[in-house]
Amino acid sequence: MPKKGMQKRSFFKKLWAGIGLLAGVELVWLTLNFLSPKKQKKDIKNLFAAGKIKNFSRNSVTPFRNRNFFLVRLQNGGFIALSIKCSHLGCNIEWDENDEKFVCPCHSSWFTINGDVMHAPATRPLATLPIIIENGDVKINTNVILKRNSIEDTEIVYADKHGKT
Ligand code: FES
Repeated sequence: MPKKGMQKRSFFKKLWAGIGLLAGVELVWLTLNFLSPKKQKKDIKNLFAAGKIKNFSRNSVTPFRNRNFFLVRLQNGGFIALSIKCSHLGCNIEWDENDEKFVCPCHSSWFTINGDVMHAPATRPLATLPIIIENGDVKINTNVILKRNSIEDTEIVYADKHGKT
């Protein structure tokens, strides 16, 4: 009878290996799908027209509270749309013009102009919303919130794909 027991063990080993392989494939597929910015931009159904590029001066923060985001134009001309929700527990943040930082009134987290954490308890940067610039208009997809664990230069959107305008 020990042979039958060995066959059973072998069967379960193969079964677990198969389940593990399936789970791995699914995890890779989900991760690639989640990280694909092209797909997220294709899914755009409801773009909010924030305004013309020229309406946003460099190093400025414009709140769109009814749409739950801040439109930031960085010193180098690039745009980034930041969620108004704190990455800690979701309170609405405010832009402090004097100190040039985002401040959360709930537990005093601070964030830089591009949404990076300056002061805990928040540990993750502010989430972003996809931006598309078409014919001089800055448009935001307010249906998509992109949570992030770090700041990437690729999140900054420029009017000129090759330059910094
Ligand atoms: S919700 Fe913003 S610091 Fe806690």
